[in-house]
Formats: sequence, structure tokens, C-alpha cells
Amino acid sequence: MSQATSSRSTWSSRWAFILVTIGSAVGLGNIWKFSYLAGASEGSVGVFVVVYLVCVALIGLPLLMAEILIGRRGRGNPVVAMLNTAEESGNSSWWALLGWVGIFGALMILSFYSVVSGWMVDYFWQSLVEGVYVNTAEEAKAAYDAMISDPLRLGLWHTVFMILTAGVVARGVVGGIEAANKIMLPLLFLILVLLTIWGAVAGDMPKALGFMFNLKTEAIKPGVVIDGMGHAFFSLSLGMGAIMAYGSYLDKKTNIGHTCVWIAAAGSFIGLLSGAAIFSLTFGYGLTPAAGPGLILQTLPLAFTYMPGGRLFAIFFFLFVIFAAWTSSISLLEPFVSWLTERYGIRRARAAWGTALPVWLLGLAVCLSFNKWSEFKIFGRILFELLDHLATRVMMPLSGLAIAIYVGWRLGKVIVVDEIRLKQRAFTLWFNVLRFIVPVGITLIFLYELVLRDWLK
Ligand code: TRP
Repeated sequence: MSQATSSRSTWSSRWAFILVTIGSAVGLGNIWKFSYLAGASEGSVGVFVVVYLVCVALIGLPLLMAEILIGRRGRGNPVVAMLNTAEESGNSSWWALLGWVGIFGALMILSFYSVVSGWMVDYFWQSLVEGVYVNTAEEAKAAYDAMISDPLRLGLWHTVFMILTAGVVARGVVGGIEAANKIMLPLLFLILVLLTIWGAVAGDMPKALGFMFNLKTEAIKPGVVIDGMGHAFFSLSLGMGAIMAYGSYLDKKTNIGHTCVWIAAAGSFIGLLSGAAIFSLTFGYGLTPAAGPGLILQTLPLAFTYMPGGRLFAIFFFLFVIFAAWTSSISLLEPFVSWLTERYGIRRARAAWGTALPVWLLGLAVCLSFNKWSEFKIFGRILFELLDHLATRVMMPLSGLAIAIYVGWRLGKVIVVDEIRLKQRAFTLWFNVLRFIVPVGITLIFLYELVLRDWLK
């Protein structure tokens, strides 16, 4: 039974769609995770970067197209979109399970994504009111630890961030999500350009670029290759219904292939540019980039302290990160909210706040997992790590794999050709990559993450 979909919103233009999808893609992943993954792949950073870019093109782009295809064809939230397309193509309605994994997985990610975004709001606030001044690496670490060990402080900023997220989603697809992206994304880009130029002047851009594109091959560790692949996946928001939900509001005229090229290119470009700015400062002030997840919050504050105008730079930098995180978090909340409104006819505002509430509660538990509950471990992981691991290392790859199989092998060429209007050769290329390379690539990431990671180190 196809569900009624006639009164659904549609993005106001093709560019609006490109904008919101870039907004979803560019987030903590591109800035925070990218810089520390690159920093951590010491000796083969260039390899990590190149693998990441190749995977964006080879795995990310084809899947991005496949997810949007399902959303647009199915004209509904991820669950309904899967049901509708499965019915149209004569497949089992069990495929809707994929939609369920997506809408719940996205909420799981949101619960800890919001907490980490809260750290950025905290540092932004600190920069604004008194400036983050640290003189040594020890002081920087102590300042970071002081935040992490304070559940009230973590909870407060997590709450602020959840309100920002739900507030946008509550206002609707065009009036909320599209409008917010239309303001934030151009600003984000402007600030980034400013930061990059500023970083180049104050820091050491040649060294940063040399570091990022150093293709020394004798230092390749297998883990670096897989990290690049996994990161391409996360940074394009794949496998969690977010892109599918956005795609469901896309008009029929827009060419999915061309649009996705823009999205993937812009996403990785912004990631690289922010990496260049971050590493310029890191090297310019004689710091080492291999600081792990704390790179942005422990290494950069040192540079901010030393550099001229550092406080202003810090304010802009954290504002940039907050915009990036905010436009991503709304895409994590939207799939579930659209399901609630479409399935039960609940008003959007109520659905948005009602969904945000349990996610917020789970996020509070995540806040506690860093301090009061840090002894409480499940499979040797605190709650934060458990959620991150389950969602990004298990659910995302598995559902990405399922999407590739579904569109590549089950949906049937008639539907696929009808949605992806590419020239014959481009189409064949895309379709074959989706059918063969994507599943193999993801299977590799998955096996590595689950079993080989520790073994290969
Ligand atoms: N792409 C975002 C980032 O890089 C994170 C993100 C947003 C995401 N929506 C998603 C990841 C959906 C997976 C699925 O920070």
C-alpha cells in the first residue's frame, strides 16, 4: 500500500537542495575528525587524504546518488520511501528495515554528536567572554579535562545545542531547514576563507600543505587506507536516512548525478580547506598535529594564545565549527521527525520537540559517561564510545552496503534509469561502481573495523 505523499514539501530550488545536503555533509566529521585522523596517520597523511578523496569519488558519490534516488522515488520518510520503492519494484517489504535502521541510527548519532557540538559551543562561549588562554600543552589539556569532567557544564551546552537543532527542524523543511542552511552555509564558507587566509598569514601554510599531501609511501599502514575509506563515508552523511530524507523533498526535474558531484566536491573541499587552516596554525606555532581527538580543543588554543588577534580568530573558528555541526545535526533529527509527522499526522513542531526530548536524555547519559559514570563500561567502552562505535562503525557501513545492493541489484533498471538521467556511459560507470566496487569497499571497511583493526596495528 503506497502511502499518501501528495502534500509533501519540496526544496525551493536545486541549489537549495545542494546547500542543505552540503550542510548535512560538512560537520564535525570534516573538521574535528578529519584533522585528527589526518594528524594521527603520521608519516602517511597524504595517503590518508588521497584515499579519502578517491573514496569520496568511488564509494561516497555513487551511494549519495543511490540514497537520494530512493528518497525521491519513494516520496516519503526513509521508512515509507523504502516501502514504496520496494512495492513498486516487487521486492519484499522487509527492505523497510533499512529505513528503520536509518531513522533510529541517526538519532543515536545525534545523541553524542550534540554533546561534542556542545564542547564547541563551550569553547566559543569561553573565547567570547574571556578568551581561551593557555600557555603550555599541560594547561591546554587541563582546561579540556576540566570541561570533560564537569557533567553540568557538558549537559548545559548539550542542552543548548539540542534546542538549536530542534528549533530549526520544528520550523519545517523549507521554513526551517532550508532557511537555516541558506543563512549558515554562506557564512560558514566566508568565515572559512577568512580563517584560511588568516591562518596562512599567521601560520605556516606551505608546511601545512606539505604535511597534508606528503605521499611518502614507505610509511603506509593498512589502517590508514581503511580510515580514509571510513571517513569518506561518515563525512558524506551516508547510510543513515538523512540524505534519503533530504532527497525525498527533491523535485523530479533535478539531475541527481550532476547535483551529487557538486555536493561531494564541495564537502571534501571544505574539509581540506579547514584542514589547511588548522595545520597552518599548528605548524606555525611549532605544535605537533598528532594530538588525537583533542587537536582542535587542545592544540589550537595554544596557537590562539600566541597568535596576534588569536581571540578573535578563536571566536570565528568556533562559530564556524558550530555552524557546520548545526547544519549536520538538523539532518540527523529530520528523518525521524518526518516519519512521525507522516505516519501519525503529528504536527511538525510537536514531533521535533518530542523526538528531541529522548535524544536529549540519552545525550545527558553520554555527558555523564565522561565523568561520573566513566567506570560503567559496556564491552569495555563508555556509553559515548559505545554509541559512536555502534552507529558509525556497524550500522552505517551495514546500511550503506544494503543500499548499494538494493539499488544496484534489486530495484530494477527501469526505475534506476528513470531517476538517474545520465548519459549512457556515465550511467553505466556509476551503476557498475555501485554494484561491484561499493559493496566490496564497504565490506573491507567493515571487516577491518570489527576484526582486523587491533590485529593489524
Ligand atoms: N556528515 C556529518 C559530519 O561530517 C555527520 C552527519 C550528519 C552524519 N548527518 C549524518 C553522519 C548522517 C551519518 C549519517 O559531521
